[in-house]
Amino acid sequence: MTSSATGHGRAELDPEAVVASAERRVATVDTVADLDDVRAELLGKRSALAGARQALATLDPGARPEAGRRLNDAQRRIEELVAARRRELESSERAARLHAERLDLTEVVAPPVSGRLHLVERTRDELEDVFTGMGFVVAEGPEAETDWYNFEALHMPPAHPARGMWDTLYLELGEPETVLLRTHTSPVQIRLMQSQGPPIYAVMPGKCFRRDTPDARHIPTFHQVEGLVVDHGISFADLAGTIETFTSAYFGSDIHARLRPSYFPFTEPSAEFEITCTICKGSGCRTCSQTGWVELGGCGMVDPAVFSAVGLDPEEWTGFAFGFGIDRCAQMRHEIPDMRVLLENDVRILRQI
Ligand code: DAH
Repeated sequence: MTSSATGHGRAELDPEAVVASAERRVATVDTVADLDDVRAELLGKRSALAGARQALATLDPGARPEAGRRLNDAQRRIEELVAARRRELESSERAARLHAERLDLTEVVAPPVSGRLHLVERTRDELEDVFTGMGFVVAEGPEAETDWYNFEALHMPPAHPARGMWDTLYLELGEPETVLLRTHTSPVQIRLMQSQGPPIYAVMPGKCFRRDTPDARHIPTFHQVEGLVVDHGISFADLAGTIETFTSAYFGSDIHARLRPSYFPFTEPSAEFEITCTICKGSGCRTCSQTGWVELGGCGMVDPAVFSAVGLDPEEWTGFAFGFGIDRCAQMRHEIPDMRVLLENDVRILRQI
């Protein structure tokens, strides 16, 4: 039955032994790519099986069918071994890939750093909220103004001594000293009265500029909120009530406000309003120059000359106005001893406030 009688070595190959060694060989392979190489080695043109198949021709014709059948059988079994190993390797490679690509949703990662509004912007938004809650509308005006809006219409003709209350930055535009960076938001009152008739209940926030030396309570570029009410029969009590309502809504009921007689050319009578210094709670510190009070702004009843400048009849209309610092509010509310930090943009400070 065997072909040993013919003496042809190749055909003596024992297919059972070939299958057994293929089984061991296949078991050692651990990647699909290596398995392809091993498959070529076991079944390819140069494999022992291929050699044995060629050698069939040298067998006795009677022995060939049986020997051929055994070789085919061995080939099929090796194919099966390779296919089974391939399935195993493919599934473990897939599992490894899924594992490597998995997203661990429980992993703790640093939250992304996101930007946010500067404290002054936030304060402006909060103040707008307080006033819109009281029925005011919000208006705005330009930062570069003419002398007429910033001074003259506010009852300060050229060379009026009160102009010295503001250290003005002039722009090199037109005639000398006719265009400037607004020193306060009061010119927006004028623009508003020109563009819409009474009744007016408005706040006007914005940036202002003065040729000031910075210190703990002053910065040369700062922000104000202007307020203007024009209607029939408005009194000083309405002004005082508005200031009181706003300070307790914004600072809380433990902070007190007081009005002190003062002078502004565009209001008569005029007052200055102050709140308890939040840094020392009124006992006196460097920020409030040891007084226990910090000035927030000025206010008063609209001067008849201002109504006349915009063509409103001072006999018919009455009103009050106020203006105060947004930066100063932020400083007091957040107990910032030195206002200059608001301009420095030191991220260690910005992250805290
Ligand atoms: N504009 C003034 C300033 O910057 C503040 C001010 C005072 C505004 C009295 C007013 C007011 O509207 O009536 O110092």
